[in-house]
Amino acid sequence: MALLPILCYPDPRLHTVAKPVAQVDARIQSLVADMLQTMYEAQGIGLAATQVDVHERLIVIDVSEDRDSPMVLINPRVLWVSEQTHVNEEGCLSVPGIYDSVVRHDAIRIEAMDEKGQRREVQAQGLLAVCIQHEMDHLLGKVFVEYLSPLKRNRIKTKLVKAKREERA
Ligand code: NI
Repeated sequence: MALLPILCYPDPRLHTVAKPVAQVDARIQSLVADMLQTMYEAQGIGLAATQVDVHERLIVIDVSEDRDSPMVLINPRVLWVSEQTHVNEEGCLSVPGIYDSVVRHDAIRIEAMDEKGQRREVQAQGLLAVCIQHEMDHLLGKVFVEYLSPLKRNRIKTKLVKAKREERA
């Protein structure tokens, strides 16, 4: 297993649209293991392959308090979303230190494959539903700050570019 570098907004690679995983093989299983390790190390609740510069439809999530319930979603597809929506405070490992409000569906049902290539359906609500929607956006090249006003987004961009520059200095 290895820790993978996480792309940081406004890195243009975060806007790449991911392709479907062609085959759940040893390469994908190794990527899943690395992504889980990277997510736990960064204390995140979700990580999309896009964020580690791999542009295939793969997500890892763990919203459990004990950090012992990993969920792997390969080629996830939305089957249903609730009409009811909710405003949630969101953050992202690719947008460090920034939290803001995003509207999401309360509940969602998806189908995906797990790391063994088994098809599964997941019905989610609450934090898990929010997390799945956030991570699936990453696979479409969308970062949560794109739901915010252009003014807010530009402030975030400036702040993160400056932080990166200071980090390098
Ligand atoms: Ni994110």
